[in-house]
Amino acid sequence: MQFFDRLLLENRAWADNMKASDPEIFERLHQGQSPSALWIGCCDSRVPAEQICNAKPGELFIHRNIANLVHEDDANVSSVLEYAIHALKVDHIIVCGHRGCGGIQAAVAGGDALQALPYVDKHLGQVKRLVAERKEELARFSRLSDKVDHVVELNVIAQVERLSSLPLVSDSWEARRAPSLHGWVYDLATGHLEEVYRREAEWADQNWQQAAAG
Ligand code: CO
Repeated sequence: MQFFDRLLLENRAWADNMKASDPEIFERLHQGQSPSALWIGCCDSRVPAEQICNAKPGELFIHRNIANLVHEDDANVSSVLEYAIHALKVDHIIVCGHRGCGGIQAAVAGGDALQALPYVDKHLGQVKRLVAERKEELARFSRLSDKVDHVVELNVIAQVERLSSLPLVSDSWEARRAPSLHGWVYDLATGHLEEVYRREAEWADQNWQQAAAG
């Protein structure tokens, strides 16, 4: 059987199983969605967002791109953020990186690894800048894989910071104290997720008070 034939066949099996365990599920989902969280993850085929946290259809609004990046000038991620925050009013945004990320590794390795992939190269520009800024810190690691995993964490933190500075997010914090921002890292070797960073509306209050006082 061809791979794509298997996928279509498996779809029917999946739908039957879903219905067997929850007979109303598709009628309910057909009515609309109100997911609690926006997930911004990497495209990597080994990090399937819903599966790794046992989330059901309707629970996660999902955007994935190589190395889970937020670009203010990327209409794709910006429109997803706008819709998730304004229309769906999600309570959480999860930025999920993963150890051994190929996108991060390409940015860390540098050289001409990305020469044949100009779109990927352009997309990873901000990771390459992050790597350049943290050059001394990264020199501590002798193994490339350790360096990559450290940048994976730094990158997740940088994306959460970037989100916290967007007017879309700060306006929503002021209006309804949400969404909270979570930076997670997934370990391919264990299948475990870990939170490495978090930002909430309260943090912004303190910072604005400090800025006003100072
Ligand atoms: Co990746």
